[in-house]
Amino acid sequence: MSNKTVYILGIESSCDDTSASVICNGKVLSNVVANQEVHAKYGGVVPELASRAHQQNIVPVVQQAIEQAGITKHDLNAIAFTRGPGLMGSLLVGTSFAKSLALGLNIPLIDVNHMQAHILAHFIEEEGSQIPPFPFVCLTISGGHTQIVKITNHFEMEILGETIDDAVGEAFDKSAKILGLPYPGGPLIDKYAQLGNPKAFKFTKPKVGNLEFSFSGLKTGILYFIQKNTKENPDFIKENLHDICASIQHTIIEILMDKLKNTVKQTDIKHIAIAGGVSANSEIRKRLTTAQKHWGWTTYIPKFEYTTDNAAMIAIAGYLKYLNNDYSDISVTAKARLKVTE
Ligand code: KG4
Ligand code: ZN
Repeated sequence: MSNKTVYILGIESSCDDTSASVICNGKVLSNVVANQEVHAKYGGVVPELASRAHQQNIVPVVQQAIEQAGITKHDLNAIAFTRGPGLMGSLLVGTSFAKSLALGLNIPLIDVNHMQAHILAHFIEEEGSQIPPFPFVCLTISGGHTQIVKITNHFEMEILGETIDDAVGEAFDKSAKILGLPYPGGPLIDKYAQLGNPKAFKFTKPKVGNLEFSFSGLKTGILYFIQKNTKENPDFIKENLHDICASIQHTIIEILMDKLKNTVKQTDIKHIAIAGGVSANSEIRKRLTTAQKHWGWTTYIPKFEYTTDNAAMIAIAGYLKYLNNDYSDISVTAKARLKVTE
């Protein structure tokens, strides 16, 4: 490999975060994320509002990322952007912007699969962080996905198992909604859970295949549990919020850990990574750290800022493609549905 200095700009706009990042070879120089507050009062992401907010944010966010990196746009070697999966209106903003900028600067354009990027965030070079060796297994847990992926090479991935209904992030967010918490509720459940007893209430775990997930039954179970108890005591949620959150979180994380144990048994791969928004959860992070001691796994936990949607992961995926001269044609289009293997 040459020791040329390569600057890649990454652009992420798949859902409700507008983000831009500059990386130099494998190192992050900037990673700017503009969250969209506008959705909280609707209890979920409103696609039309998301694309409008991306349009407002994209120019200042990209400008800030380039400035913070201490370079000018003329130093960039390529532009990487999220092609999909995601909300079409949101993806279109990032895609069109990336295309115009690449054309204007006359540099390569590189499309990136958002699901691959969550996993490839593990290849960002940071002090104190370890890069996983091939093959490794990644549990991708986000608001839209829950899957176990085997990674044999940077762009050679295989889905070993996934959810048959809701994603784990949805399980967190929908449970939070039942408790009257604002969107996205995952981080709030995590926060309150730290103050509660995880064994206070028991919820039934779903019965599905060894490497499969299902969360819709759990959500219904939680709904009935809350309805029954608030009928008897209207202040039930208020009086037990910490214990309820701790018990819900404990059940969800138990399900995830069970599936990881099944995966290790089935594949004999003990290099285990987690990725996606839910990998920010403090309990899963703790459980993976102890798995390292108890079961001899080597675990890879992303830095907090690379768990939820961010452009640094898009830039590192773009950099790895750049090294393979894997560029996109200007005719490339956004794709709302895209598998991690595509
Ligand atoms: O990866 P991400 O930012 O967006 C998608 O691609 O879906 O994931 C967002 C999801 C949301 O469901 C959010 O509630 C969840 O990640 N999340 C958490 C935590 N932080 C974010 N869930 C549980 N505990 C957390 N600390
Ligand atoms: Zn994501």
